[in-house]
Amino acid sequence: MDNFVINGVKSVSGNISISGSKNAALPILISSLLTKEKVEIENVPKLRDIQSTLELLNYLGKKCSFTSNKFVISENHSLKHHAPYDLVRKMRASILVAGPLLARFKQARFSLPGGCTIGVRPVDIHLESFKKLGAHISYSGGDVVISAKHLKAARVKLKFPSVGATENLMMCAVLIEGETVIENCAKEPEIKDFADCLRNMGALIEGAGSSTIKIMGVKKLTGVKYSVMPDRIETGTFMILSAAVQGEINLLNTSCKNLAVVSKCLERSGVKIKDCGNSVKIISSGKRPKPVSFKTAPYPGFPTDLQAVWLAYMCRAKGKSAIHESIFENRFMHVGELLRMGAKITVTEDKAVITGVDRLKGAPIMASDIRAGAALIVAASAASGKSTLRRVYHIDRGYDGIEEKMRSVGFKIIRKKG
Ligand code: EPZ
Repeated sequence: MDNFVINGVKSVSGNISISGSKNAALPILISSLLTKEKVEIENVPKLRDIQSTLELLNYLGKKCSFTSNKFVISENHSLKHHAPYDLVRKMRASILVAGPLLARFKQARFSLPGGCTIGVRPVDIHLESFKKLGAHISYSGGDVVISAKHLKAARVKLKFPSVGATENLMMCAVLIEGETVIENCAKEPEIKDFADCLRNMGALIEGAGSSTIKIMGVKKLTGVKYSVMPDRIETGTFMILSAAVQGEINLLNTSCKNLAVVSKCLERSGVKIKDCGNSVKIISSGKRPKPVSFKTAPYPGFPTDLQAVWLAYMCRAKGKSAIHESIFENRFMHVGELLRMGAKITVTEDKAVITGVDRLKGAPIMASDIRAGAALIVAASAASGKSTLRRVYHIDRGYDGIEEKMRSVGFKIIRKKG
């Protein structure tokens, strides 16, 4: 397993190009199951999760190729309808195959994904939604088995604006005759990008990005050529990483229009942010930031995927900050590792209180999930001395070439092949 060796830096400067969005690319690639025609998706990031999606689609019977950020998917023979445990346990988003397989073949089967470090992550909202559309749910050997004689359009109100359940439901409804209305759905920008791609395939969808999506079913969807939106969470990660040390960084091929809350928090902490349309400039004095507290929330609130990274940034704040994690029940795994670097943090249930210190000290640390790993990179880059970060494979699931991007502007990070 690879490690990162990271040394604290005093200042950085230059340009970093942001990759395509993991959390938009995953549903977009999986929606290729809705058509037998050719699908070409560009600006796809090179990530372990994208590789897992390629394996999953090939296993189901699609023919996928992925070269220089372009993903081409075709279908030459009949598809399997089952996402097996080995593939689902590697990537929870595999359960998104259920919606399109149910829509096209009236049956789907996937291994229950089980929990992960950030929480139990049930799939009840997905399954309740499929039932509302007329599907029958049963369980066999750790798998969910979904079937339907006839699917019917319906009004489905989600008990929580689940991103994945919204996407699964959208993919099922686009081929069901009549109008399906999804209420209290997720409003994340990735949902809007996903809907734009489905519309380019011939789907009739309105309201994506709001809390109610209306879908008028069509008989079939065509192939598509589509380019994925920039990665909002990678953008936010690099904005906060740049704020944690002195310097001026330009993030290219992205914007912070979908990160208004994060930009506001960064400005309140003492950093200058300039959205230049297709790039974002971050100017940081490198001084200890002012403390800024918040509670994570579904979009447009502070994104849970940037909570760990922000918490690492607050470890040097001049004062106390409080972070309330309201989306996942166990998303403070990075705290133990930050304490090893000299951070002062107390966690009670879903709230962390951080008392800033002058500077963290480098130490041997370990990533537990994608975003906790990114948080430790921020902490180590702003610390004094050397850190060795283990289990880098977590980070490779969600960040495309993070060490090369960081080194290109002066951060000190090298990968040690393990
Ligand atoms: C998506 O996960 C993202 N993943 C996550 O990003 C992100 O943290 C999350 O949305 C929230 O924004 C992808 O898009 C691939 P949810 P998802 O369903 O769809 C509960 C990253 O680091 N819930 O919105 O799985 C669930 O337990 C990843 O890139 C149910 O109770 O998230 C959680 O507490 C991590 N029942 C909350 O809802 C369900 O049926 C939000 O989950 C589904 C979810």
